[in-house]
Amino acid sequence: MKGLYLHTAAESAGQGGENQWLTLLAKKGNFEVMTQKVTRGATAWLYPAENPGDLEFFFVHEGEMEIVLGENDVRRIGPGDCFYTQSLEQNVLMRCLEEALLLYVSTCPAFDEQDYWQRELQALLKRVDEYDHNTKRHSRAVMRYAVHLYEAMAEELKDIELEEFVVAALFHDVGKCNVPGSILRKMGKLTEEEYALVKRHPQDSATILRPKYGDRIANITLMHHERMDGSGYPQGLKGDEIPLAARILMVADSFDAMTSDRGYNRVMTFQEAAAEIVAQKEKYDPRVAVKLQAMVDNGCICRMEEAER
Ligand SMILES: [Fe+2]
Ligand SMILES: [Fe+2]
Repeated sequence: MKGLYLHTAAESAGQGGENQWLTLLAKKGNFEVMTQKVTRGATAWLYPAENPGDLEFFFVHEGEMEIVLGENDVRRIGPGDCFYTQSLEQNVLMRCLEEALLLYVSTCPAFDEQDYWQRELQALLKRVDEYDHNTKRHSRAVMRYAVHLYEAMAEELKDIELEEFVVAALFHDVGKCNVPGSILRKMGKLTEEEYALVKRHPQDSATILRPKYGDRIANITLMHHERMDGSGYPQGLKGDEIPLAARILMVADSFDAMTSDRGYNRVMTFQEAAAEIVAQKEKYDPRVAVKLQAMVDNGCICRMEEAER
């Protein structure tokens, strides 16, 4: 019928290609109507729009999410709830507790950019996920910890956007895809040659990320094994040579390594690991370590990990 536009669920499923998560249902000028699926355990953000007059509206059709409005203000939303942004002044963090399906209406063009970004990330995630199960788990855990540390220190992180930081955190170890699986999964001590191969992964992560995501993201991943006293690798950078974003990533990375079972280590409790990082003042930025300690003390880390189980 003239003027009638029919969009069936089967069309949406077919057109998704690599991106099964975001579907454009209707578009007129700048106005777009989409559906967005969010996987359980995923972290997402609402960003201030470039034009403060723009509106982004979300209706929760299925699933359950948490919206973090402040350290002690976390709201749960579920089917039938909605939220929207207009003149938003800062990023808002969301966590998906149960796989969600959102109706997403935007008065500014959002689909093309979101679709491109999500497809790129999914392709990279697939690469990590298919290569090594532990790298997959570790990457997501490091991202969760690092993002909360970023939020706690956002005032000082003007030179890197949250969106860029998320990519750096999530893919800091993507270079491990170049390390033979037999070495990556070896129980027990590595030989010197094997360790030398593993130690190449920060450069490889940066090399993989730089062409698509740029220097800022690549440089943070390159530095995630540096240490404040110059004892890290690959460049042996010291103190102020290491930007705050990379210092956050190294704390989040070490914290997950200490608290997860890698088959050959003693698994520390969250309290023990935070105390250890605080104690190693020469290696980790004490300001970041103190923020981590606070996140453990106030139960933020426990809540985050319980939501993952
Ligand atoms: Fe690493
Ligand atoms: Fe790592």
